[in-house]
Amino acid sequence: MNTFALIRVCVTALPIAVSALASAQDAAADDEEIKHGEYLAIASDCGACHTAPGGKPLAGGLPIESPLGTIYSTNITSSKLYGIGRYSLQQFSEALRRGIRADGAHLYPAMPYASYALLTDEDVKALYAYFTKAVPAVEEPPAKTTSLPFPYDLRFSMAFWNALFLEANPFTPDPRRSAEWNRGKYLVDGPAHCGECHTPRGFFMQQDRSRQFAGAVLGSWFAPNITPDANAGISAMGADELFRYLKFGKVAGKAQAGGEMGIAVQLSFSKLSDDDLKAIVTYVRSVPAIGDAETEARFAQGKPLTEVAKFRGVGAMSSSEALPGGAAQLFAANCASCHGIGAGGSRDNYFPSLFHNSALATGGGRNLVATILFGVNRSTADGLAFMPGFGGNATDIAAFTNEQVVELANYLLQHYGNAAYSVTPQMVEQVRSGAPKPLLAILVDVGKGLVCALVILLILWRIVRHSSLTRV
Ligand code: HEC
Ligand code: HEC
Ligand code: HEC
Repeated sequence: MNTFALIRVCVTALPIAVSALASAQDAAADDEEIKHGEYLAIASDCGACHTAPGGKPLAGGLPIESPLGTIYSTNITSSKLYGIGRYSLQQFSEALRRGIRADGAHLYPAMPYASYALLTDEDVKALYAYFTKAVPAVEEPPAKTTSLPFPYDLRFSMAFWNALFLEANPFTPDPRRSAEWNRGKYLVDGPAHCGECHTPRGFFMQQDRSRQFAGAVLGSWFAPNITPDANAGISAMGADELFRYLKFGKVAGKAQAGGEMGIAVQLSFSKLSDDDLKAIVTYVRSVPAIGDAETEARFAQGKPLTEVAKFRGVGAMSSSEALPGGAAQLFAANCASCHGIGAGGSRDNYFPSLFHNSALATGGGRNLVATILFGVNRSTADGLAFMPGFGGNATDIAAFTNEQVVELANYLLQHYGNAAYSVTPQMVEQVRSGAPKPLLAILVDVGKGLVCALVILLILWRIVRHSSLTRV
């Protein structure tokens, strides 16, 4: 080849090479963004709600019991027909951060958009890239869709709710705090949405920010107080223990993650980077402590049975408890094989001790009842934590009646947990069925539906009007 021809080849090839290089760089940047989006989807636990038991990933159909009725999640795969494949970035952002669907209808706050409102633009973009480019399309609608009774079917009433309670702007870091603290606050309040479960709700189901993380009933379970209060909260759980709780779902001799927390740990928190988990721990341990009537940390309550006579004046075992079918019998026949006859658990702590156990000293014993009914089923890098349920569901090994659960739970609380708690058949029934109803739903239930809803809308309208007037 002569020099002239060589130059010609180079000149023609150069732009091709440059553009190939550029598109390779683009593809790498795309991959990077999609990977970041996938990590955020895990941190936000989208899959926990948008996947039905036994269903295809992210294809929706999971029933979420809310005080207003059952709300079903939707298909958020890249399917253009049944999923969100046709969403523009702007529409996706509106759904995620403002609770507005592509067709303009309002979402119910069972979709935690009030927390996702804090997601940064960059993170929303990465999530969008992941959902539209990398999540395989599932070309079918969810088996069930939401239809709530009047007046909750009025989706537009959520516009009032949003006007009152929705954060207007994405997260902005506090320059007075460390980068780690800010990262933790972002994750906790935004994607990981800890407050959706752990913060009690006000009259309108909004998170009561003045009682952030003070503990709340959550369907069948109780999400305990996780503020740093010495007795009511988790200050007795060290930073390292909280880290391990989030990563493995268990702190030996203190607490285990069952119910919704077990799912959140398995699908989300256990898969976060250690740096992100440390940031979460740093922030959670820095929030204001909120106390209640508790005078002893829940990880310290209860004693082995042999010491019980000395403890709080509780006698060892009453004769009715020891009767065939009584509480002590129920325990010996159903629980002792794993948790030990003295309830001390196994030496390696795989089977936890029932004294010094958070489940028996928080939320009035609700998590003890839920554990008896539903068991535990959680898997992390630490292995499988499995306890069968006794509530009579398909795979349970026994079907206790409500009275049996009451008897067993109260016996355990008296001897090994918070002896001031007393479980009732009503609580057991509530735990079996899902959600207790807050004031708003109860008012509507007792037949005052229309009047009540109108009054509420009127009040909301007046508040919104008032606040927009005062802003001017
Ligand atoms: C706590 C449960 C929960 C979590 C977590 C959750 N969602 Fe949802 N999402 C829902 C429910 C329920 C609906 C339907 C609400 C309704 O019908 O009003 C929904 C609706 C949506 C919609 C509207 C879809 C449509 O039908 O047009 C989008 C988009 C969406 N979610 C995306 C996400 C993404 C992305 C994540 C994670 C960042 C996520 N969701 C996490 C429960 C959840
Ligand atoms: C979907 C609801 C949900 C979310 C989200 C959630 N939690 Fe929980 N959490 C629970 C429930 C329910 C329990 C009780 C579990 C049990 O006792 O088996 C719990 C238990 C805990 C405990 C143990 C308390 C004790 O005394 O046993 C800690 C600590 C905790 N959560 C921290 C967090 C943090 C930090 C986040 C966010 C990164 C978070 N949780 C997000 C529902 C949730
Ligand atoms: C086959 C063994 C087995 C049997 C039988 C069993 N458990 Fe468990 N239990 C476990 C395991 C395993 C765990 C979970 C430990 C973990 O989360 O790491 C557990 C956890 C618990 C917890 C803590 C749950 C939480 O989320 O905080 C309580 C309370 C409990 N069991 C009570 C009982 C009672 C009461 C009975 C009898 C009705 C019983 N268990 C029967 C194995 C068993």
